[in-house]
Amino acid sequence: MKSYFIKTFGCQMNKSDSERIERVLLDMGLSRAKEADEADLVVVNTCSVRQSAENRATSFLKNYKKLGKYCVITGCCASKDPERFEKWVDLVLDIRNLEKLPSFLKNEAHKPRLRQRHNYFKTNPKYSNEFHAYVPIMTGCNNFCSYCVVPYARGREVSRPVKDIINEIKSLVKNGYKAITLLGQNVNSYKSGKTDFPALLEKINNLDGNFWIWFLTSHPKDMSKKLIKTVANCKKVCRYIHLPIQSGNNEILKKMNRKYTREKYIKLTKLIKLNMPDVCLTTDIIVGFPGETRKQFNDTKKLFKEIRFDMAYIAQYSKRPKTAAAKLEDNVNCQEKKRRDKELTKILEKSALENNKKYVGKTVEVLVEKPGIGKTRSFKTVKLENKDKNLVGKIVKVKINRALEWCLTATNDDSSR
Ligand code: SAH
Ligand code: SF4
Ligand code: F3S
Repeated sequence: MKSYFIKTFGCQMNKSDSERIERVLLDMGLSRAKEADEADLVVVNTCSVRQSAENRATSFLKNYKKLGKYCVITGCCASKDPERFEKWVDLVLDIRNLEKLPSFLKNEAHKPRLRQRHNYFKTNPKYSNEFHAYVPIMTGCNNFCSYCVVPYARGREVSRPVKDIINEIKSLVKNGYKAITLLGQNVNSYKSGKTDFPALLEKINNLDGNFWIWFLTSHPKDMSKKLIKTVANCKKVCRYIHLPIQSGNNEILKKMNRKYTREKYIKLTKLIKLNMPDVCLTTDIIVGFPGETRKQFNDTKKLFKEIRFDMAYIAQYSKRPKTAAAKLEDNVNCQEKKRRDKELTKILEKSALENNKKYVGKTVEVLVEKPGIGKTRSFKTVKLENKDKNLVGKIVKVKINRALEWCLTATNDDSSR
């Protein structure tokens, strides 16, 4: 085999894992094909958070298997249901066994599903971006929310040693990286030795260099006062908090096994806004959880009006085998789920626009990602008047002149750094 193609589905964690897979394949002397059609080896990094995500990944794989490619499945579908894929895929790779990939491909190891798992974060990534890097700090989940497949796919929480994280970030900053996104399924439950997440953020913040720090995804139960203060006090840490609530109704939250109440969440967001009035607050929501009544859904609508999120990723409930909620009847029909999704989107559009209007007339820093497009520290997308490709990867100061729901527009100031 001479060339490979990696197709990635799912969240940022999967994108980051694919960067590590790529490094292993490059080190084996393979080269990257532009299209899957041209590759000898096709690796599909899958997501199983919803049935639709799983279907997309498996149909992609089936297509290339038919074309006679050597097909590897990895990611969340592969580690959740290895037996299901072993029958028709050339190799099922549990991402935690990444360092064994070369020997699996050379047929030197006979048990592709080794139970003994390695710290796959030890494998260096081939970063896909030259100025913004994903740095995983933990993986796995101990929370078992009743609807969610992640604990079955990613296993229990494992945090990466502080030294490894710091060394990776130091080297990124030395190489001119301007933004680091710390990743974890529950990033704020990070714990390695005596270092918890706020302590880790402080250590990273104290490193030399001009760079921004983002982090994803925080669980409300681990959003401590100490963490809020740390984000507020650390200059490099951006005031962008993604805090999934999932539902605004206490009965549903209980059925979801989320371990907090609507009141506790509201209190948290008040504390966050008190410490950081300019924070950008985003969330995840599931509509149509088994048994969710109109009345219960209305509590989520009320909560949306009260909190005024900047963004929300709204998901229609999808039954996942193995999870506790799979035993409950998925009784909110598709049409109703769609309707609830739309209703929330409408409220969100209003609050996002109102929040964005506060930027108009202000001069803000923007990290230019592509010609004419960038991100603020608060992770707002900005369309720039200046489309110069030499600005890509630079932080520029721009004046916001217009606010839309999902983006801001700006005129360029010349002071880039
Ligand atoms: N660890 C994060 C979320 C990880 S999964 C947290 O605790 O919030 C990403 C998102 O997918 C979830 O926030 C949820 O909104 C959505 N999701 C997970 N399982 C789902 C399911 N069975 N149906 C629909 N959406 C789901
Ligand atoms: Fe899934 Fe809940 Fe874990 Fe998030 S905290 S990954 S929603 S089980
Ligand atoms: Fe999907 Fe796995 Fe991420 S299920 S959302 S790729 S952790």
